[in-house]
Amino acid sequence: MAVCTGIQFEIYLDMVLLYNVCSIGQHYSNLLYEIRLPCMQISYYPLAVSEKGFIPTLEFLARLPGVRSICEIGGGANPALSLDFVRQHNLEYSVLDICQQELDKASEGYHKICADITDENLTFPCRYDLVFSQMVGEHIQSARKFHYNVFRMLSDTGIAFHFFPTLYTFPFVVNWLTPERLSRAVLDLIAPRDKYRKAKFRAYYDWCFGPTDGNIRRLENIGYQVQQYIGFFGHGYYEEYRPVQWIHEREIDLLLKHPNPYLTSYTFLILSRGQNGSVLTGHENDLHALLRRSI
Ligand SMILES: C[S@@+](CC[C@H](N)C(=O)[O-])C[C@H]1O[C@@H](n2cnc3c(N)ncnc32)[C@H](O)[C@@H]1O
Repeated sequence: MAVCTGIQFEIYLDMVLLYNVCSIGQHYSNLLYEIRLPCMQISYYPLAVSEKGFIPTLEFLARLPGVRSICEIGGGANPALSLDFVRQHNLEYSVLDICQQELDKASEGYHKICADITDENLTFPCRYDLVFSQMVGEHIQSARKFHYNVFRMLSDTGIAFHFFPTLYTFPFVVNWLTPERLSRAVLDLIAPRDKYRKAKFRAYYDWCFGPTDGNIRRLENIGYQVQQYIGFFGHGYYEEYRPVQWIHEREIDLLLKHPNPYLTSYTFLILSRGQNGSVLTGHENDLHALLRRSI
């Protein structure tokens, strides 16, 4: 019942946004294609690509020529790269997290750094060729400080890769607006999980948008070049509720045909520090071929 009300509300919300924001959003998005540097690419894919494509994308980036030192932000209990992969490719891999308890849950073999990525006085032992995060952006209170510190961590040709959920898809709007205790209870109900390995953290969704003009401008103001801004439509929260899922899938089809950056559910954001190319330069087509293969 609650889910049905949810989907009705979501469709209503999406339609309102689609019709009210679409013209403005699309107008600026179209302008972006024309006025941005050719290295920036905005693209949209269905949810499955983000689910199946994250680790392949991460491993693809980690294997790029010129990538040796890697830092994962908020890797906590579940660092994304396996120790086998790190050893096999002779990488230096550090996992930074604000919470020592979470870091303690990860295997001993990882190099762990307990620190707040938004700390203005944060210092780093070296500069990294690849800094990435998975499902962390939404938990950061100040996205500006987060992205600024990651910018400082990057080597001259280094890249940052962030995978995070985005507004205004319905479940994340609910999570954003609902008091923490209530959203925890709702999540337990609709998406039960191993609470030791997958603890729930408070979500703020600061700068958690798909490829909107505003987000691109904010990142560029820090000094970044936005290399790839990939929006994903759809989420997995209705999978148990078949009729609702069916409607949701039609909605995803519609959004893929008429993409709107305000209605993505997740995003892959790839940023570079350098004005004169990065480790990704020349490999963009391979990245998209890999994403297309992942569904
Ligand atoms: C939802 S968990 C994601 C963990 C892991 N990346 C994954 O996908 O399973 C969010 C992680 O971000 C960490 N985190 C939250 N705020 C942080 C901050 N300001 N600095 C560093 N880590 C932070 C939390 O401690 C937690 O481990």
